[in-house]
Amino acid sequence: MSNLSKNGKRIYIQEVSVRDGFQMEPIFIPTDRKVEFINGLSRTGLAKIEVTSFTSPKAIPALADAEAVMCRIDRVPGVEYAALVPNMRGCERALSCGVDEINLVMSASDSHNMANLRMTPQQSLEQFEQIVAAVGGRVRLNASLSTTFGCPFDGEVPLSRVLDTVARFVDMGVDGVTLCDTTGMANPAQVARVCDAARQRWPDMVFTAHFHNTRGMGLANVLAAAQSGIDRFDASLGGLGGCPFAPGASGNVCTEDMVHMLEAMGYDTGVDLEALLVRARQLPDIVQHDIPGQVVKAGPWTRRYPVPAAKAAQGA
Ligand code: COA
Ligand code: ZN
Repeated sequence: MSNLSKNGKRIYIQEVSVRDGFQMEPIFIPTDRKVEFINGLSRTGLAKIEVTSFTSPKAIPALADAEAVMCRIDRVPGVEYAALVPNMRGCERALSCGVDEINLVMSASDSHNMANLRMTPQQSLEQFEQIVAAVGGRVRLNASLSTTFGCPFDGEVPLSRVLDTVARFVDMGVDGVTLCDTTGMANPAQVARVCDAARQRWPDMVFTAHFHNTRGMGLANVLAAAQSGIDRFDASLGGLGGCPFAPGASGNVCTEDMVHMLEAMGYDTGVDLEALLVRARQLPDIVQHDIPGQVVKAGPWTRRYPVPAAKAAQGA
């Protein structure tokens, strides 16, 4: 790796395959397999794992075992264990399982919030306010803003609307905010604009970026956000993922591909890529289909092949 510049900048990797990924799978992955898989992920150097979601089991049947999974996984020191929560009921369930962080979710756009959560954004904000009061600082609270970079129903979401919603989160006193590109509509120039605006207005807020690779712009968007100073990224092993209530949604940015790119560029992700690849290779058997990740197939850029014998003899 001597030809690489080591900028040494720390980037925190937050794994969402077992929530954003598994929620989209048509088969129900048995609880034991989820627990075993998460226990493996916990030992790869990831900063955070979004373990499950405490949503209605009718809305997301794939994660109907949220309590069992959350309560049975190993809690490896240094890893934060989070869960997605849409409402007060979900908050109570998450607290009963001792989560480290509740990740509140709502959309920047009206139509996606209605399709996904059956609430207006205003109603979601009211739920959040009640949750913040009920939690009373017992666990960390993060707010995820879906469709920040565009809505599959309403189209472009004005930056002013995104910032106004983030301002509500900040006023409530959340510990972190995630800017989510739910259906891969973001492009790198837009990502730079949105992230710069958010970071300039709230320089001390902990921002995460959450991209989907639906249109092949995922890693380019990660890079644009990193260059805007974002240092936390959600990603999904194998590139699984997608919202069942957003037409055309597909996988998140692939964790191992993202770690591979960032490490090659000299960022410090804290993640052991080889250990992550061991887990990625288990996924096709768990989800019963091929996965879109690329490094798991090609191997890291450091991979070398033997020089073909005939060419070596010719000195070619
Ligand atoms: N956990 C478990 N059950 C819940 C729940 C929660 N957090 N919130 C509501 N419910 C139950 C209610 O008890 C009720 O059950 P019943 O039919 O047996 O009486 C049922 O779900 C409907 O409750 P209601 O408050 O009317 O909710 P809703 O039908 O309007 O749905 C949400 C609202 C938010 C619960 C639902 O849309 C949801 O869970 N969405 C999650 C979407 C998601 O995760 N998307 C992908 C990630 S972005
Ligand atoms: Zn997502």
